Amino acid sequence: MNYSIALVPGDGIGPEVTSKAVDVLKFTGGKFGHIFNFVELEAGGCAIDATGEPLPDSTLEAARRSDALLLGAVGGPKWETQPGHLRPERALLGLRAGLGVFANLRPATLLPQLREACPLKEEVLRASHPEGKPTFDILIVRELTGGIYFGERGREGDEKSPDSSAFDTERYSRAEIERVLLTAYDAAAKRRGKLCLVDKANVLESSRFWREICAEIAAAHKNIETSYMYVDNCAMQLVRAPGQFDVIVTSNIFGDILSDEASVLSGSIGMLASASIGAKEAGRKYPPGMYEPIHGSAPDIAGKDLANPLAAILSAAMMLRYSFSLEREALAIEAAVNSALDSGLRTTDIAGRAKDSGEKIVGTNEMATAVMKALENA
Ligand code: IPM
Ligand code: MG
Repeated sequence: MNYSIALVPGDGIGPEVTSKAVDVLKFTGGKFGHIFNFVELEAGGCAIDATGEPLPDSTLEAARRSDALLLGAVGGPKWETQPGHLRPERALLGLRAGLGVFANLRPATLLPQLREACPLKEEVLRASHPEGKPTFDILIVRELTGGIYFGERGREGDEKSPDSSAFDTERYSRAEIERVLLTAYDAAAKRRGKLCLVDKANVLESSRFWREICAEIAAAHKNIETSYMYVDNCAMQLVRAPGQFDVIVTSNIFGDILSDEASVLSGSIGMLASASIGAKEAGRKYPPGMYEPIHGSAPDIAGKDLANPLAAILSAAMMLRYSFSLEREALAIEAAVNSALDSGLRTTDIAGRAKDSGEKIVGTNEMATAVMKALENA
């Protein structure tokens, strides 16, 4: 089969990690008999430099025509003084909205090889794990195209007067809540069958609406164990007892915050992949999907062969799974990542603290090469 992939390397370490993910995809294609064609597009800071806009229309149009999109990262200090609507981050929001990818899946798992890089004590991990193991396996499903990120916002009054103000609005429609909850229930059914809605229903009306709708869906999904948790408590539970969670589903802003917290627990933000998916539309072969590592552009280490390419590579695996239903190929990539880690290779972000750990610190290139070698031998 032929697949057309839009490639948005972006800024900072984006280009170096996506190029490794592309190598891995091409290799996987060769091995399993698929052809992945890449169309490279500009978005973020590099697009601002080239065109004056973070998300040129041509980029969004080409992205919409492709079967799936792989993105590196956008942003950097160079563009930090830009006004809000001209910041690189607008490109991300524009792509998410423009592609209609309303459900953001962010797995946070602690691989046994990275136990040393997790800041939690072993007994803390064991205590909440159903089988007493020192690990956890959480999927955060974050609503991605609604809420306060996209709600009405503005400023009122004379800028310097004491009663001048600024506002952002958290508003969710029933349809927006239902579709992301259904995606989360689907995911829970394929995992351990537990779903926790995280909200602030003790204070926010929009959260109470989420809970009402979730209770309706829960009644129709008796096979899933549904629970509810306030976001402040969840922030605490993640570091106190992460093993209790399976699927966490939550709003755009709460998901943004909790997924960064969860990423630290899994050893490094440099390991975490994400998939953003939408609903299938008429005339499209696949539902729209956008895949990106969640680590951001890390401009301080860009171009130094220091970035961890594994999150981008694992994002490519998620693309194969969620957009193209190529489960066998996705598993092969994940197994290759595992075996690179098994052989003791570590980029600096995932290096353990023990001196005699048998680990070898490597750069972006060597890590990616090890993944390809493992794929070759699989
Ligand atoms: C993320 C990022 C983005 C977000 C920023 C860069 C706009 O933090 O993908 O989590 O808040 O969604
Ligand atoms: Mg974030």
